[in-house]
Amino acid sequence: MTTAPSLCVGLSIAVTWLTGNGWRRPGSRVEDIYSSDFYIDIARQAEAAGVDFLFRPDSLFLDPAALATSPGFSSLDPTLLLSTLARETQRIGLVTTASTSFYPPYIVARQLQSLNWLSNGRAGWNIVTSIDGSGNFGSEPFPSSTRRYAQAAEFTDVVRALWSSYPAEALAYDRDNGLYGHTEQVRPIEHRGTHFAVEGPLNLPTFPGRRIPLFQAGASNEGRDFAARVADGVFAATPDMGAAIELRQDIRKRAASHGRDPDTVRVLPGLSLYLADSEAEARDLFAETHRGLGEARKHRLIADSLGLDVSSMPEDQRITPAMLPDQVRTVRSRTHTALLHRLIARDTPTVGDLLSRPEVAGSAHWLFVGRPDDAVREIERWAHAGAIDGFIALPGGSDRSVALLLDELLTNLQLSGLFRSSLSE
Ligand SMILES: Cc1cc2nc3c(=O)[nH]c(=O)nc-3n(C[C@H](O)[C@H](O)[C@H](O)COP(=O)(O)O)c2cc1C
Repeated sequence: MTTAPSLCVGLSIAVTWLTGNGWRRPGSRVEDIYSSDFYIDIARQAEAAGVDFLFRPDSLFLDPAALATSPGFSSLDPTLLLSTLARETQRIGLVTTASTSFYPPYIVARQLQSLNWLSNGRAGWNIVTSIDGSGNFGSEPFPSSTRRYAQAAEFTDVVRALWSSYPAEALAYDRDNGLYGHTEQVRPIEHRGTHFAVEGPLNLPTFPGRRIPLFQAGASNEGRDFAARVADGVFAATPDMGAAIELRQDIRKRAASHGRDPDTVRVLPGLSLYLADSEAEARDLFAETHRGLGEARKHRLIADSLGLDVSSMPEDQRITPAMLPDQVRTVRSRTHTALLHRLIARDTPTVGDLLSRPEVAGSAHWLFVGRPDDAVREIERWAHAGAIDGFIALPGGSDRSVALLLDELLTNLQLSGLFRSSLSE
């Protein structure tokens, strides 16, 4: 057992509690998910509960077929949404997502720095290389994950250089002498790289005193190395504690090899929480949320990730590593493929087991179904085992589940001494 430090807690506002059949509940407010009031309410509740930051993942494509049963990937632009929340909150961090595969770095540097000013220094950037959407940004085929990470590394360096190109100290505001800014401190960046050519400087000064924290998601070899070099937080998909311990140890080792203090990179798994007042109710909530949904989607996910068609196999058929083809045509997320390979090598699950696992049924996130105080014990167990530096909560099933997270789970976590929100210190 190790002594666990204080956990860092984020809340995803990707309305995870409306996925599956969640949106069909009376009072789900699904009609409001493109309005600001819906998010303002959640943001204020999260801030009052001491949540460190709101987190908005994003995608830049839509699968119209998915709309038959859920909002799918329909969503407001995350940075515009968080700018709205900036006015309505005082302390909570606001982490937006911007893709390094599709946006120009100058625009991202400016948007993030704008969010930082509008929120008094509370912006964060979730750096993603994306898994789909290239059809919306030109006709090229989607670049390989390796190439996307090479582009992401250069993109991030350009954004950071742009943020430094117009430092806060360049602002003089000297009314007596008519000197607005020290022009010698504002410098072009003259970047000419493999993927980008950007002159600079940025046309917005840096918000004084608050560096914008960087988040990253994607845990292939390149993804881990990228995170270890630049990230303050890693949004991780870790369906079991072993996966989280392995990832955290590896990221810490890689951070040290890049000359960084490992404690400055926080591994924050997504934590899917189906909470209710009793364990039986929570299990019902989970079952109801997923009832009748997604067999075809799950089969497609397994076929895409593993190159294996399980759709006509019997439920009790065991899947072994020998059944998996060596090469899969396209792997959009090597993270998810590697997690599935790991599960099959370890458990040789039946088709039925496989279809119910978080790697297939969810987004491979840590899953807890039960009462808030049992969730606290589970979080304590992971923290003491050195598996996490915090988590990003993905409440599921109902708005009651969200309320139990914010009212009970986080209060009990604070009482346990594991969650000293930086906001309340
Ligand atoms: C936990 C997790 C969350 C992710 N969230 C997003 C997201 O919000 N938007 C996005 O475009 N891509 C997202 N991605 C995709 C990654 O940015 C990356 O493109 C993909 O995982 C491929 O990288 P890999 O080879 O390291 O797995 C996510 C990936 C993971 C593992």
